[in-house]
Amino acid sequence: MTTPDPGAELARLGREYADLVARLEANQARFQRLARAMYRVQEDERRRLARDLHDGLGQNLTALKHQLMLLQGSLGPAETAAPRLADAIALCEQTLADTRQLSRLLRPQVLDDLGLVPALRWLGRTLAQPAGLSVEIEAGEVPELDEDTRTLVFRVAQEALTNSVRHAAAEHAGFRLSAGRGRLRFEAWDDGRGFDADRAREGGRSGEGSGLGAMRERAALHGGTLQLVTHPGAGTCLRLDVPLAGDAGRLAP
Ligand SMILES: Nc1ncnc2c1ncn2[C@@H]1O[C@H](COP(=O)(O)OP(=O)(O)OP(=O)(O)O)[C@@H](O)[C@H]1O
Ligand SMILES: [Mg+2]
Repeated sequence: MTTPDPGAELARLGREYADLVARLEANQARFQRLARAMYRVQEDERRRLARDLHDGLGQNLTALKHQLMLLQGSLGPAETAAPRLADAIALCEQTLADTRQLSRLLRPQVLDDLGLVPALRWLGRTLAQPAGLSVEIEAGEVPELDEDTRTLVFRVAQEALTNSVRHAAAEHAGFRLSAGRGRLRFEAWDDGRGFDADRAREGGRSGEGSGLGAMRERAALHGGTLQLVTHPGAGTCLRLDVPLAGDAGRLAP
């Protein structure tokens, strides 16, 4: 019987280990690609729904409003139906505005047509201004972003600003965008009440709020990280760090 050679055994174990790690990395990369494809499908579906809402429901409401206005024009001022008709027109206008807003929030066309910074400005005007929150945007030199990265940043900004409006009781909020050393950095901040991030993360695990958790997972699929800097009473800053195109397949440390 031959005694096993410890050196050869060690080398064999080393090869097995390297093989396992390579398979794990390949599976992880495959999972990332699949999950990113799923988000792409979701965004396409949102784009289609947004168009249907805008072109279908939106156009019907516009036609309805037009008909009601014609009817209004044919009534004398003393007609008893006149105030009801005015209410119906106002309701129609409000529903039309809500439909357009919903359509744009599903997938704003400005993001595809004009790019990220105009879309962020639009988000500030749409979500924050009506709530009395002013939004400042600082954008440094940033190379042209691929569609996935643009969408990721936009969805993080949307979640962050929605949180600032809903939870922060802030006066000011802002977005900062910069790029360097092959990475894109995006920050969304507010000067509101801040919160206990650990407690919120626990709440997220027990199913209380899921917005931030979902964004963290989405960032990880792009090889990025999402960091939360906040304390009760000290405002909130959500920081996304993501590789620029070409490095997107690489996992973040
Ligand atoms: N900018 C903020 N200012 C103050 N508190 C915040 C802010 N952002 C988040 N929080 C706190 O963290 C919790 C978790 O936020 P998260 O976005 O994950 O969930 P949510 O907003 O409650 O629900 P969802 O996003 O699923 O609609 C919030 O419920 C809130 O208490
Ligand atoms: Mg939220």
